[in-house]
Formats: sequence, C-alpha cells, structure tokens
Amino acid sequence: MKRTLLILGFLTIAMSAFSQDIYTVSTKTVKAKVPATLWGLFFEDINRAADGGVYAEMVENRSFDFPKPMTAWQTWPRPQLRDGILMVINQSAVNAADPKYMQVSLNAKDTVGLMNSGFDEGMSFKKGLAYNLTLRYRQVAPGIHVRIFLFSAKNQVIGRTSLVLKDSKEWVNQEVSVTPTDSARTGKLLVIFEGAGKLDMDRISLFPSDTWKNRKGGLRADLVQKLADLKPGFLRFPGGCIVEGNQIVHRYQWKHTIGNLEDREPVQSIWADDVPERQTPDYMESFGLGFYEYFQACEDIKAEPLPIINVGMSCQFDAAEVVPTNELEPYITDALDLVEFANGDINTYWGKKRAELGHPAPFNMKLLGVGNENWGPQYAEHLKLFTDRLKAKYPEVKLINATGYSRNIPVFTYMDSVLRARKADIIDEHFYDTPKWFMDNSNRYDTYDRNGPKIFVGEYAAQSDRIGSMKNKNNLLTALSEACFMTGIERNADVVSMASYAPLFAHVTGWQWTPNLIWFDNTTSYNTPNYYVQQLFSVNKGTDVVPLLKDGKAICGQDSCWASAVIDRNANALIIKLVNMSGSVRSESIRLDAGVTGEAQWTSLANPNAGVVNTIARPDAIQPETKIFTVKGKEFKFSAPPFSLNILVLKLNGVAPEGPAGSKP
Ligand code: AHR
Repeated sequence: MKRTLLILGFLTIAMSAFSQDIYTVSTKTVKAKVPATLWGLFFEDINRAADGGVYAEMVENRSFDFPKPMTAWQTWPRPQLRDGILMVINQSAVNAADPKYMQVSLNAKDTVGLMNSGFDEGMSFKKGLAYNLTLRYRQVAPGIHVRIFLFSAKNQVIGRTSLVLKDSKEWVNQEVSVTPTDSARTGKLLVIFEGAGKLDMDRISLFPSDTWKNRKGGLRADLVQKLADLKPGFLRFPGGCIVEGNQIVHRYQWKHTIGNLEDREPVQSIWADDVPERQTPDYMESFGLGFYEYFQACEDIKAEPLPIINVGMSCQFDAAEVVPTNELEPYITDALDLVEFANGDINTYWGKKRAELGHPAPFNMKLLGVGNENWGPQYAEHLKLFTDRLKAKYPEVKLINATGYSRNIPVFTYMDSVLRARKADIIDEHFYDTPKWFMDNSNRYDTYDRNGPKIFVGEYAAQSDRIGSMKNKNNLLTALSEACFMTGIERNADVVSMASYAPLFAHVTGWQWTPNLIWFDNTTSYNTPNYYVQQLFSVNKGTDVVPLLKDGKAICGQDSCWASAVIDRNANALIIKLVNMSGSVRSESIRLDAGVTGEAQWTSLANPNAGVVNTIARPDAIQPETKIFTVKGKEFKFSAPPFSLNILVLKLNGVAPEGPAGSKP
C-alpha cells in the first residue's frame, strides 16, 4: 500500500455550506456494534491453495500415494521401474492410510535416481536459502548411499549434498539440508541411489527453511503474511466443497489430518476433475496442512477458528450421496470429538491428543459450521440430529447452518424458513453474482429480522463475466461492487455478524476456479483489487456503526455512490467508507454532528479504468494510496475520484460513544 504525506488543498475544511450533495453523519447515534468477527477469511484447498500452495512442501506426490504412483516423478537416467530396480509397493490392504512406498534394489555398483519436478511450473529455489530434505525409509538390506541434487531449469546443478543412512529395519525419518548456489524458478530435485542393497522409501520431502514462523514442514510465509495483513476476524476451513467431497468416501475427515504425516490418508481432491475446462488429475489432498495446523494458523493470525464439518452428505452438485440417518453416528461423533479436540482439557481423550501434538491449551473454538453448501429436506433432517447432540453437549458453541448455493431461489427460501423456525444461531448465505447484483443488493439486510438468527455471508465474489466462467477477472469493477455490498453489510452489522470473500487463493497455472482473492506461483504472489477492498474494510472496521445519510436515507447508489460510517472508539475516530462507481468525480459535502480536528487520513483504491487488474508481472498495477490532510470543524468537501473506494479516517474532537468493544456473534 502506497503512503503519501500530503496536505491537500482541495480537501481542507470549509465551515460554510456547499452546493454539492450533503451527507450527514451522526456520530452520537450508535446503530450497531461492529462484531469483532465481521470481516474474515474462507480457506479451501481449491486452485492448489494448500498442496502446491500455502503448504510449503515442494515435492509433489512425496509419498508415492497418488493413484498413479509415479505422478511428478521420473526415474533417472532411464525408465527403471520395470527392471525391478525401482518398484512401487502397494500395502493398502494392510495400511490404507499409507498405501504405497518405493523400493530401490541395487545388486551391483549401479546408480539410479528419482527426479521430482514439483508442483505446476516446478520448484522455486532461492540462492543461499537452506532447504530441508526429509527421507522416510527403512533398510531391507543396507548398502545403498543417497546423494541429493537441486537442478535449475536448464538442468544445471545448483545444490548438492548426501545422506549417510542409518542401519534401521524400522521406518525412520532422516533430514539433511541443502543450500543452492543460485536461484531458480522452475527447478527440480534429483535423489540418486548408489551401492548394493535394498531400501524402502515412504516419503521424500523438501521444504524451504524460511517457512511461516520458521516451523519445519510448515507454511509459505509470504502467503500466510498476506492473510495476517488482512487482520481477519475468523478463518473458515477447510472449505468449501472439499468438506463434502464428490463422494462420501472422499469427504474431509479431520481425524485423518492430524498427527504423523504417514497416518494422514491422502484423498483425490474434488477439484481434480470437477471443472471440465480445467482438469487437474494430479490434484490430491495430502493433509500436510491438517486440522492442527489450521487451528495453529488461526491462533497465529488472531482469527477465530471456524471449522466446517461434513453432515453425512457428499457434494450436492456431484453424486449427492446421502448417509442414512440411522448410520450417521460416526459423523456426529466426529463433530463432537472435534469440539473436544479444540476445547477439551488435557484429561479428555481428544484434548490429550491436542496436547501431544504440542498445544496443551485449548484453541477456544466458538464457531462450528455443520455442513458446507448443503440444502434440502435431507440436509434439514441431518442438521437436526447434529444440532441436538452438539447443543446438548456444547451449548456455548455457535453453529453455522447452510442455505445452499444462491439467494432467493426455492433452495434458499426453504432452508432459510426451516432455520428461522428452528432459531438457528447463524445462517450461511453464498453469493456469486454480477457486479450489478452486488451494487443493487447493498440494502439486502436492511429488512432482515433484527431478532432472528445472525447472518454469515460465508462466500461471495462478483463475477466479471458470468458465474462459473473461466474468463472471470479480479478487476477493479468487481472489487468496487463488492465494496458497495460491504457498506450494506457494515450498516447492518447488528444482523450480519461475519462475511468472507471466496475463494481465497489460486495458483496462476494450477487453478480451477476464478475469481480469487490472492494469486500466486511457486515463487511469488500478488493481491487483487478485491483483496485491497477486503483489507480496507477489515483494518478500518471500527467499533460502532453510525448513520451516514443523504436526504435521510442510506447511501445505496444515489449518484452512483455507496457509503457507510463507523466510529472507532479505541482511536476516537470516525471512519467513512465511500464508493464511487461512476467514471467521473463525485463531490459531496460531509456534515457531522461533532467536530473533527487535526490530521486526517484518506486512503483510496482508484483507477479511471475499472477493468484494471494486477498480475504476477505487474503486481502493483492497482493498489491503495494513503494521503494525509488537515481538517477542522463540522463540515468538509470531499471529491471521490472515478471508480474508487475511499476510506476517510477523521479524529473526533470529543469522546466517542461509550460501549463494549466489537461484540462477538
Ligand atoms: O468457493 C468455491 C466453491 O463455491 C466452494 O467450494 C463451494 O462451497 C461453492 O460452491
């Protein structure tokens, strides 16, 4: 974000009335408390968000467990598999969680190798940075030596080391570090075996040492930092459709994602073949980023954890398999056990497991999603069974219930009426729609029942082309239309307690869905205009919603402008958010019921070309700019540039209203 310190002539205060439209702000009339959770994140392993993305593992198919076990691997120097020198052993009948491993048999002074090309474009190496290679192996007949090479795109060796193996008949993990002498964006790893003997290998793994918080086998620091920079109120995980899976057998099972990596049974992602135009047959979920790591990440970035659990139904856009109600017990048990894992003390079975993984203190989970994007009578029936059991044991945990995939269609209205009749805690609504829809619906929540369930806008994103189109772009127009809608969410923060853009991450070549908030390749990443809109709302969320009106009405499109206002009681500031969706300057007089004084801050995300996008090559084609100006008194003129979101932070000349800090849902 660019920052400029400027004293702006045209923004200085004038005490007289202006001919422009007059916006009035009542800083002393608190309409709602801003929930601490209002602006949060939706994380799903779609578009290589986890494996090949934020999970920093560089070796694709590190455990040879993919359906095609040589995916991403090549034997070296020539195909060796059929010679019995390199053999994939399938042990799935006795170990379903860890079905395959690789066996190397050398009976002469021979040299063979395995080369891995990494995810998508290849491995990205930074000159001088240490990379940690882990080999999980057991010796069947000792005598094999291992050498490790890092290659550049041009097949030049840029790093090398060797590993003296332990004489262990049991599976062991052994680590060695290798530091490249040059950088490479599309590199490879080669592991060479020499000598005579027989070696079983269950995993060959390579991580950079500069992971988030320097955790071994952890997450990509640059991508987690982008999440932290959004100051999210919550993190919803692990999805999305992957919660449901395209078949029940592929559903997300959190118990399969904790503990030793070899106990985390890999599953083919629903996104491997769900989008015909962008098939990704090698998309597997390794669960290296599992539920413990998700909870830990939430703690790191100070976001409330919001896990979503499967409700005994697979994705309703796919096979739509439904588990009979009399067979739901294991699913309900998984949900109950998850609360114990997150919150139970260390004397409980699952609380003890959490402690053994390194976190004796509870994660203090307060929110749980029961079902992802489910709908219909079967969902209503399953939900009742889950809710009764969860509420009986954990009444303090707020449950989030789904209403399907869209707004105001029978699928939605049926679930909405069921959930309102049941007095659900929080109802999840999803909107993928045109920019116009987002602009036209900024008043959606004005008429919602103030005493009914809270609303979680759990997935939303404006589509520049059409819903599901591969041509959708994260351009400024879509971002600003979301900002219009978000002013409506903010104005209705007494009803809407949470909102998250979706999806969050996408690999620039490995994606299946567009648009997305953050795009990356294996080396770098960039923020979309939509990211900046989320960030500007989140870091300026304030504590109390106050009215900002024109002619006594909320500003929802008059003269192509949308606006809302909050007080930040902690900073004693008034924050105005104003979107100009037109291609020309919009000038307003802003009249307050309290004086403002001193330096004020104006941050704008603006460009006369509403089609502007950021890219890997031009990551800063559009970014917010901040200027400082001086204000005094109770009225000032503001000119909003064409196609802009503007955040004005004004120091109040007096005490902001009393009240508790941002409330929880
Ligand atoms: O965000 C992408 C997908 O959209 C999610 O997985 C699903 O919940 C919705 O249909």
